[in-house]
Amino acid sequence: MILVLATFLVGVATIAAAAETFRNTVDGSELDLSKAQAGEKPDAVETFEQTGKNPLNGDEGSIEKGKEEFLVACAGCHGHHAKGKLGPSLIDDYWTYPANAEDKGLFSTIFGGARAQMGPHYMSMTKTEMLETMAFLRDIYEGKASKAEWLDLEGKKALIKERKRDQSEGEGDA
Ligand code: HEC
Repeated sequence: MILVLATFLVGVATIAAAAETFRNTVDGSELDLSKAQAGEKPDAVETFEQTGKNPLNGDEGSIEKGKEEFLVACAGCHGHHAKGKLGPSLIDDYWTYPANAEDKGLFSTIFGGARAQMGPHYMSMTKTEMLETMAFLRDIYEGKASKAEWLDLEGKKALIKERKRDQSEGEGDA
């Protein structure tokens, strides 16, 4: 009986460990993700909550939607090109909160807010909209590829290649 119970408990612990814990960017308190609606792409939201990786990164349709959402919800403070205004730039590689270089940190900041005017967005955006906005921001990133922590090594290499190609095409035009 004890053995059965122990096996059961280990099983529960394994399941619990598979899901990521999201924490407030400033005070580290645990965020209750059920406070926001999943929205139009519940599968993407579920994958994200399990892995902490945004599955919408690089998806053209999501990036387009994210751009619209950014203009409505964020541009007033962060500028139309996210290069900073009242709030800081969101597309360079300097972060007040280094965790924002990972999708999990960026989502947590949008969901739960940070300091001053950076309020939480869980009442005004769905989780799908947050992930789309993040996909847009990652798409227009201008910082060093080596500091794009949301990408794995292959992703970083691909970004360097893409930029070299864009650069040589640019030179060809000139
Ligand atoms: C009312 C103004 C306002 C709005 C709207 C706003 N922000 Fe902010 N944001 C700020 C301010 C001010 C800060 C700096 C807060 C701090 O340092 O704690 C900030 C900080 C941030 C940071 C942390 C940056 C870093 O360097 O670590 C992120 C990420 C961010 N905002 C994303 C967003 C996104 C995405 C949206 C839209 C969903 C948004 N913000 C909407 C004002 C705003």
